[in-house]
Amino acid sequence: MLNNSKWISYPTKEDYTCPVFKKKFAADKQIKKATLKITSLGCYYAEINGARVGDFILAPGWTYYKRAQMQAYDISHMLKSENEIRITLSSGWFNGRINIRNRKDLPNVYPALICEMEIVYADNTKEYIYSNEEWECSLSKITFSDIYDGESYDSTYEEKFVPVKVQSYGEFKVVKQQGETVKEQEIIYPRSIFKTPKGETVIDFGQDMTGYFEIDLNAKRGDRVSLSFAEVLDKEGNFYNENFRSAKAKFEYVCDDGHQVYKPKLCFWGFRYIRVDEFPCELTKSSIKAIVVHSELKRTGYLSSSSPLLNKLFSNIVWGQKGNFLDIPTDCPQRDERLGWTGDAQVFIRTASYNYDVEKFFDKWLEDLRLEQKREGLIPFCIPQVHERPGSSTAVWSDASTICPWQIYLTYANKKILARQFKSMCDYVDEIGRITKEKYLWYGCWHFGDWLGLDAPAGSYKGSSDPDIIATIFYAYSVSLVIKAGKVLGKNVTKYEKLHAKILEAGRKKFTEFKTQTECVVALYFDFATDKKAVAHKLANMIIENGKRLKTGFVGTPYLLHALSQNGYTELAYDLLLQEEFPSWLYSVKQGATTIWEHWDGMNDKGEFWSKDMNSFNHYAFGSVADWVYGVACGIQTVEEYPGFEKIVIAPHPTKKLNYLSAKIETRHGTVSSAWYLEGNTFRYEITTPVDTTVIIDGCVREVKKGSYVF
Ligand code: BGC
Repeated sequence: MLNNSKWISYPTKEDYTCPVFKKKFAADKQIKKATLKITSLGCYYAEINGARVGDFILAPGWTYYKRAQMQAYDISHMLKSENEIRITLSSGWFNGRINIRNRKDLPNVYPALICEMEIVYADNTKEYIYSNEEWECSLSKITFSDIYDGESYDSTYEEKFVPVKVQSYGEFKVVKQQGETVKEQEIIYPRSIFKTPKGETVIDFGQDMTGYFEIDLNAKRGDRVSLSFAEVLDKEGNFYNENFRSAKAKFEYVCDDGHQVYKPKLCFWGFRYIRVDEFPCELTKSSIKAIVVHSELKRTGYLSSSSPLLNKLFSNIVWGQKGNFLDIPTDCPQRDERLGWTGDAQVFIRTASYNYDVEKFFDKWLEDLRLEQKREGLIPFCIPQVHERPGSSTAVWSDASTICPWQIYLTYANKKILARQFKSMCDYVDEIGRITKEKYLWYGCWHFGDWLGLDAPAGSYKGSSDPDIIATIFYAYSVSLVIKAGKVLGKNVTKYEKLHAKILEAGRKKFTEFKTQTECVVALYFDFATDKKAVAHKLANMIIENGKRLKTGFVGTPYLLHALSQNGYTELAYDLLLQEEFPSWLYSVKQGATTIWEHWDGMNDKGEFWSKDMNSFNHYAFGSVADWVYGVACGIQTVEEYPGFEKIVIAPHPTKKLNYLSAKIETRHGTVSSAWYLEGNTFRYEITTPVDTTVIIDGCVREVKKGSYVF
C-alpha cells in the first residue's frame, strides 16, 4: 500500500511542535473521483484548499507502533483547478510523552506521513500525487501538542517553508483501517460560569467527559487565551486537578485580530470543569462549548429502573465507556496514563459489548494485543505497549488475551477474531506453565492482585486477597476458554483439557480456604470452590458483617453480584447494588459523580480526596456491574452454543426493592428486551425476543419463538 509514496518528515526532530506539510497541484479537467490515501507516525490533520479532509479525529489512531492504519477519503468535492493540500502532524501517541517505550526504542524516528492522491477524470485518465521530496514543510501555528500536556496555537506565527526530509521507514507497515474511526459525537454547553472561593473563573459543563472545546471570541492580535482542565472541585469548591499528576493538560492560544472561532486539532482532555486563566474579552456561555469525542460506536444497550440513583449509575457507566473508548479501551482519559490497560478492558468488556457495538473496535485492539505479545507468550500491561516490557504476564490483566476474544465471540459470534487470536490464547496459557514456581498452579509470580480492593494494607493499592489464588483460578479459567475456543474452531484441545483438570486438582489441593470477599467471589464464579455452599455462606456473612458493603477491587467486583446470585443470595446482591453508603456504586452517585470513579473512596463525605496519586474520576472498571443488570437482574443471557444471540436465555431475577427494571440490547438478530414490574405482591414480566428463546421465571422453563410476551 502507498508503494509509490515516500515517508516525509520535518528535517529536524522537533518534539512536541507540529510541522505542516504542503503541496500545490492542479486538477484542470472535470473530475470523476478523487481519493486521498494517507497515514502517519504521529497524528495528522489534513486540509485541502482550507477545508478539513474527513472527520476522523486523531487519525490514524493508535496501534502497535510498527503498523499504521491507512485512511482513504473521497475528496472529489474538495478539488478545484488549482489546489493546495496541507497536512499538520503531531507526535500524538506514536512519539508523544505517552509512549515511553517507543521513544527509547526509536530515538531517530521523526513523526512522518505518507500519502497518495488519485484523481480520476471524467475522460477516465488518472493522475497521482505522492508524498515525496517535492513537498515542503514548516513548523506550524500549532506550536505545541502533546496528549498529556495539551495544545498551544499561535495565530501570529509565520510559517517558513523548507524542503521535507524523505525517510526510509520500511519497518513501519501501512495497513488498512481496521478499527472504528474517532469522531466528534456531541456538544455540551456550559451549565454555569462561576467564581471559586480563590477568585478563579471556572466553567462547569455538568458532565465529566473526554474531548475538547470550541472558543468563540473577539480579540486583538497577540491577545491570549489560557485554559486549564479538571474533573472535580475540591472541598472548598476550588478548581482541582492534582489528580492529573504530571499531565499538564493546558490549552494556550495567541489570538488574531477580530472575531475568531477555534477548536484544538490534535489533542484531547478529560474534564468537566475548565478554569479560564486568560481570556481577552467578556466570557459568556456562548464563548465556549465542549465537544465530546470518542470512537464511532453504535449504542446498542439500554437499562432503566424505578430508582433515579440507579438510573444515574447506568448513565455514568455509559459515560465511562464514552470517555474511555477513544480508539483503544483506556483506563482513564485525563491523567498521565490514558493507556490500553489490559485488566481494565477485560473487566469491562462484557458490559461494553452490551452498551455499544464494539466488535470492530476490539478487532483492532486484539490484533495489536496479538502483535505485542511476541514469541514468549507474554502479554504486556498495556496494549499498545508503552512501558518497559515486564518480565512475565500478570494474572487478570494478561487474561484479556483469552477473555476478550471469547466475549466478542459470545456477543457477536465472530469466529474470525477467535481464530486469529487462538494461537495468542494458547501461547499465553503456555507461558504460565513455564513461569510458575509450582507446576499446575500459577504460583510465586508478581501480580497486580485485587487492585484497589478496600481490604488493602495501609499504603498499598493491592487488596489483601492472595494473588496466587487469584492467579491460579484465572489460569484455570483461561485454559477453559482455550478449550472452548478450540472446540469452536475444530482444534484438538486434549492437551488443554488434561492441563485444566490438573490445574483444578493441584489448585484445589493447595488453596482450601478463601479468606477475603474477592477470594470467595472468584472461587465461586469460576467454579473453583468444591464446597460452594459453604463459600457462598462465608461470602454472604462477610458482606453482612460489613454492613452489607463490599470490599472488592478490580478482580472481585465484576463477579461479586454474579457469585451471590448464582448461589442463592440474589437479595444480598441487590443490597450491594442499591447500597448508598460508602463503599458502593450509589455512594459515588450521591457524591455527584457523572462517570465511574477509579476508587470507591475517590472523594469522601467531606469532599476530601483519598489521594492525588491514583484518583481518576473517569475509570470504567467498576462500571462492569452493568453486565449483572443486563444478564441476571433482567436476565438476558447469551448461549455459548448459539453465540451472537442466535438463541437467547432470559432468566430475570426481580426484587421487591425496585418497582421496575428493564434492559434492552440490539443484537445482530434484532432487539431483545426484558423488563419486570412489581404489581402488588407479584411481578409482571414483559419480554420481547427476536429469536427462539428459553424463558426461565421462578424456575419455570418455557421455550418461546420470536415475539413479545407478558408473564
Ligand atoms: C491504571 C489502572 C491499571 C493499573 C494496573 C493504573 O495506574 O490506571 O486502571 O489497571 O494501573 O494495576
